Amino acid sequence: MTEPDGGAVPVIAIDGPGGAGKGTICRRVAARLGWILLDSGALYRLVGLDALRKGVDLGDEQGLAALARSLDAVFVPGPDEVHAQLGGVDVTEVIRAEPVGRAASRVAAIPAVRVALIDRQRAFRRLPGLVADGRDMGSVVFTDSALKIYLTASAEERARRRYKQLKDKGIDVSLSALSRDMVDRDRRDAERSVAPLKVCDDARVLDTTAMTIDTVVATVLEWSREVFPQAGA
Ligand code: DC
Repeated sequence: MTEPDGGAVPVIAIDGPGGAGKGTICRRVAARLGWILLDSGALYRLVGLDALRKGVDLGDEQGLAALARSLDAVFVPGPDEVHAQLGGVDVTEVIRAEPVGRAASRVAAIPAVRVALIDRQRAFRRLPGLVADGRDMGSVVFTDSALKIYLTASAEERARRRYKQLKDKGIDVSLSALSRDMVDRDRRDAERSVAPLKVCDDARVLDTTAMTIDTVVATVLEWSREVFPQAGA
């Protein structure tokens, strides 16, 4: 599974824990640059959803890897967001629900599932460039990325943001349950044996706790122009 020779295609790899604002930031940066967006978390969520729907046990590593290999998923860019389809049905909202997030975190810890999704992620690397959002974009999937960013925020702030995001979508959750879930998931993402969430040596760390979305986007765009002078934004 060698990395394709994507040297001519620039990649901004943005990793970090859940709720750090990566989704919004990556979407806006990709739109400003006119680059392709990869939401790798959505792929793990799709595998989680597929498993829940098909009744595949979340401890069945071989069964889950088989699901990941044959995942019938398509991403369709829309005016505001990229829509995710599973088996031809739009599941963009469904995969954001917490039970699917929990299932995603379980399946993401399985090495064979991660291997099954690597080529699918690398296929997003196309001109004029890619903004890749995940946990291991810089450390595993796009190791040659010239701009790696580790986006983070305090656990309290991340739980608050996730809470607001779900509330805005009319999804009812409790902030304390969400905080507990987030701490559990952070731990699982950081402690798993494969592709644990970590700060790459060559990543720039951006703590967004006290930053507005606009300022974070402006900072990432400034770094992009510095690293990729051809990037037009
Ligand atoms: O970013 P997110 O909440 O949509 O991610 C869902 C789950 O997938 C989360 O538990 C982390 C995991 N994930 C991963 O292990 N590797 C990635 N590149 C992206 C997400």
